[in-house]
Amino acid sequence: MTLTIIPSGQACGARVTGVDLMRPLDVETVANIRAAWLDHHVLAFPDQRMSEADLERFTASFGGFGDDPFIRPIPGHDHIIAVKRRADETAPLFAENWHSDWSFQARPPAGTCLFGITIPPVGGNTEFANQHAALDAMPADLRARVEGLQAIHSARAGYAPSGMYGAKDKNRSMDIRSGDEALETQLHPFVRDHPETGRKGLFGCAGYIIGFDGLDDSEALPLLYELIQWQGREEFRYSHAWEPDMLIMWDNRSVLHRATGGYDGHDRLLHRTTIAAWDG
Ligand code: SIN
Repeated sequence: MTLTIIPSGQACGARVTGVDLMRPLDVETVANIRAAWLDHHVLAFPDQRMSEADLERFTASFGGFGDDPFIRPIPGHDHIIAVKRRADETAPLFAENWHSDWSFQARPPAGTCLFGITIPPVGGNTEFANQHAALDAMPADLRARVEGLQAIHSARAGYAPSGMYGAKDKNRSMDIRSGDEALETQLHPFVRDHPETGRKGLFGCAGYIIGFDGLDDSEALPLLYELIQWQGREEFRYSHAWEPDMLIMWDNRSVLHRATGGYDGHDRLLHRTTIAAWDG
C-alpha cells in the first residue's frame, strides 16, 4: 500500500489516505504509519468504516493496549471506551482541559486512537498542542525555571470522589467511575526526551500535574498556570475537525489535547482505545 500523507499546515497533524484499516496491516505499512505518526504526532484516516474489532486490531498493531482506569469499557470490548455526549446533556464537557492521557500512570500510554461514529454538524473539534514546538520556542528564562523539574501527576482533580467526575457529577452519559486510587501520585520529568525519537519536549500540564517535586504550592501553582498559558498557545495548535468514519491516532508523548464544545443539541459519539507505553 502507498500511503498519501498530507500535513495539516498547522503545528502538527496530517491526513493519511491510501490504506484500508478494515483489514490487517502488513509490517511495512505499520512501520510507515508509525514513522508518519512520530513525524506529525497526530494522524487522521478518513473514510474508514471500522468495526470495534478493526479498532482493536489497529491499536494492538502499534504496541498493545494501555490500561484505561475510571471509565467503563463498552460491553464486550474491554479496551474500548465510548466518548459520548447526548444532544440534551448539560454536564461539563468531558476532557475539556488540556492533558496528556493518563499521564498520572507510571507508564502512561504512548498514544490514543479515537474513532468518529456520530459527529455533530458543528463544533466538537479536538484540539492538539505540540509540546516539542512549545519547548523549542519557550523563552530562555521560563525554560531555565523548568529544566530538571520532576512534575507530580495525579488523577485527583478529575477522578477522585471529590473530583470533577466524582460524586457530584450528575447526568453524564459517559460511564465514569471515580475512586480513591485517583489520589495516588507519580513523578515524571517535565522536560524530557521523547522515548522513541529522542526529541525534547514538555510532558503533561496543569490538571493532571498538581505540583513540582521540591517546590511549594506557592511557587508551583503560579508556575503551572504560567506554563499552561504557554503550552496551549495558538501557534502550537492543530484543531482537528471530525468526519464520521474517521480514525485519529495521537502521540501522548508529543502533544496535549482537549475536547471542544459548540454542538449543543447534537449527539456526539466516538470510540477510544489507548496504545501501551513503548518498550523499544
Ligand atoms: C479525549 O480526550 O479522549 C476526548 C477528546 C474529544 O472528545 O474530542
